[in-house]
Amino acid sequence: MLKKILGTILCAAIACAALTGCAGSGKKKVGISMPTKDLQRWNQDGDYMKQKFEAAGYEVDLQYAGGKSDTQLSQLENMINSGCKVLVIAAVEASSLGTALDKAAAKKIPVIAYDRLIMGNENVSYYATFDNYKVGQIQGEFVKKALDLDNAAGPFNIEFTAGDPGDNNATFFFNGAFEVLKPYIDSGKLVCVSGQTDFDSVATPEWSTATAQARAENIIGSNYADKQIDAWLCSNDSTAQGVVNALDSRYTMKDKWPVVTGQDCDIVSVKNMIAGKQTMSVFKDTRTLAERTVTMVNQILDGKEVETNNTYDNNKKQVASYLCDPVFADKDSIQKILIDSGYYKAEDIGL
Ligand code: BGC
Repeated sequence: MLKKILGTILCAAIACAALTGCAGSGKKKVGISMPTKDLQRWNQDGDYMKQKFEAAGYEVDLQYAGGKSDTQLSQLENMINSGCKVLVIAAVEASSLGTALDKAAAKKIPVIAYDRLIMGNENVSYYATFDNYKVGQIQGEFVKKALDLDNAAGPFNIEFTAGDPGDNNATFFFNGAFEVLKPYIDSGKLVCVSGQTDFDSVATPEWSTATAQARAENIIGSNYADKQIDAWLCSNDSTAQGVVNALDSRYTMKDKWPVVTGQDCDIVSVKNMIAGKQTMSVFKDTRTLAERTVTMVNQILDGKEVETNNTYDNNKKQVASYLCDPVFADKDSIQKILIDSGYYKAEDIGL
């Protein structure tokens, strides 16, 4: 008798899980697919989203794809088959997730592209991100101001390091910065001694620190034996760290350290800013993006109008998007932006 009752309870629980994705908890399940644990920010994004979705009453299936699109695809298929009600995806590669998105659409599971837009597929429901072009503009404007390009005689030497060609954000960052600096390159006030100024030449597959470092070492070795570098425009912190390592090992004019830009306020880069080796970063508060994503999911699942403030073209449709605001950060703003706001503890960044 007892066995029969237990059996009935078990069957009911399985049916409940299959029907609602509640896995016995009565909660709706959200699948969160992050690209890699190897770059600091995705660990933070994943942690914050897990916390915030759980606090909002959801069950969370959080997976990291190890930087591999096929792993991400199979993780997404598992999420689809295990009853997730909505998927939140930061793609390893922008155009490789079509089959998973089609399967999600067949089951009416909405997809939010998180931070990185998923390209070439019509089943992206929404996009939550920061204003990626503005990130680049903040970096470009900083270089312009730091070198006083409108007033100083120059010429100044500059090099560029951009991000992963498979990440749709990377061209937005690069173009945002380059368009600020291009007039000065055209006029000869800024000189790129390596001659590498187009995105394809300066891109860094997988945003890898080691790859950025190897390329920067080559550039320094071949072009700057007896020349000063005034600025190195790096699209994010993981690549800026590679450039700083290369400057440390190969650059001979250490007292003429260049302006080095970045993005994310990674712990290593914040320490480099304190040490004067990276000059600025762009702070994208991942807590804000995580909260925005929870709001979107609530609105979607409650059948309410989803708040957006922009659209992005993914080559198949105009994806309704919410863009959060990136914020300039340097050595002087670390305390206010990162410590006082509770993003890092002082000891995390060696203070
Ligand atoms: C993100 C950046 C990050 C880069 C590498 C981009 O898609 O927007 O914040 O630095 O990926 O992780």
